[in-house]
Amino acid sequence: MKLLSLPIVLSASAAVAIEPPEGHPWLAPGPNDYRGPCPMLNTLSNHNFLPHDGRNITKDKVISAMSSALNFNESLGALMFQMAIVANPEPNATFFTLEQLNVHNVLEHDGSLSRSDAFFGNNHIFNETIFNETKVYWTGEILDADMLANGKIARQLNSKAFNPNYTFTSSVESFSLGEVSAPIVAFGDLQAATVNRTLVEYFFGKFSAPHLEVVLELIFYIVNERFPTELGWSTRNEVVNIDDILRLSQTISNASSLITAAKEVASTRRRDLHSGLY
Ligand code: HEM
Ligand code: MG
Repeated sequence: MKLLSLPIVLSASAAVAIEPPEGHPWLAPGPNDYRGPCPMLNTLSNHNFLPHDGRNITKDKVISAMSSALNFNESLGALMFQMAIVANPEPNATFFTLEQLNVHNVLEHDGSLSRSDAFFGNNHIFNETIFNETKVYWTGEILDADMLANGKIARQLNSKAFNPNYTFTSSVESFSLGEVSAPIVAFGDLQAATVNRTLVEYFFGKFSAPHLEVVLELIFYIVNERFPTELGWSTRNEVVNIDDILRLSQTISNASSLITAAKEVASTRRRDLHSGLY
C-alpha cells in the first residue's frame, strides 16, 4: 500500500513529533512506506521499532521490537513471527512486509474493529466509520472483556448481515480473539483484563487534542498509530509471555457468549404467560 499523503504535511507533522518512547520518536509514514491492517505493527514502524518503510521485517526484528516496545519475551516474539511469515508467498521466506499482510483471507480477515471488510473497499487503512461501530460498545472509561467482546461480535454481525462474502473460520476466530485482547496486552492490566479506553482510542485513530499536529492529521487524514506516551503510557515492567496471551484470548472468548447465568426472578408469572412448557 502506498499512502496518499503530502510529504510537506508529513514533515510539518514530524517536526512536532513527540519524543518518547525514548529514542523512538513517532514519525508519520511517507508516501513510499508500507503500512498494513495491524495497528500495532504500523505503530512499531512509525516509531522505528520495526523498519519505518514497513519492509524486510525479519524474525530478529520482530523479537527485538516486541521486546523493547511491549516487553514480550523472546518466545512470544518468535511465535508471532512464525504466525506472520505465511504472509510472504516466497518459499522459505525470512521476512515479510506490512503490505503483504493486506492480502484478504490470509491473515487479514472480515469483521475487523477498525478496518472495512475487503468486500466494501480498503481492508487495511484505519476507517473511522467502522471504528465508531466498534466504539458504540465501549460503554465505560475502562474497557473490560465484555465491552471488547461486544464490539467484536457487533462487527461480525454487521459483516455477516451485509457482506455477502463474509468469511470467518475457526482459525480466524483464534486470531481475532488475540487481536481483540491485544489492547489489554499493550496498554492494560493483564490480571484484571481491563484497559483505559482513552489509550486505546488514541492508539488506533484520531485524537482531538489541541496540538498543531493533530489539526494537521484531521485535515489530511493522518491517523495516530502511535504509542500513547503523551497520555502517560509507558512500556509495562512485567514481561508478557504466551500464557498471558492465551489466557486473555480465553477471557474474551468467554465474554463473547450471549448466554448468561440466571438472575433472581421476582415473579414467575411472566414466564408462565410466555410458555406453556414451564
Ligand atoms: C490486527 C498481524 C502483532 C494488535 C492484525 C491484522 C493482521 C495482524 C494481519 C489484521 C486482521 C484483521 O483483518 O482485522 C499481526 C502480526 C503480528 C501482530 C503479523 C506480529 C508479528 C500484534 C501485536 C498487537 C497487535 C503485538 C498488540 C499487542 C492488533 C490489533 C488488531 C490487529 C488490535 C485488530 C485491528 C482491527 O480489528 O481493526 N494484526 N499482528 N498485533 N493486530 Fe496485529
Ligand atoms: Mg480485516
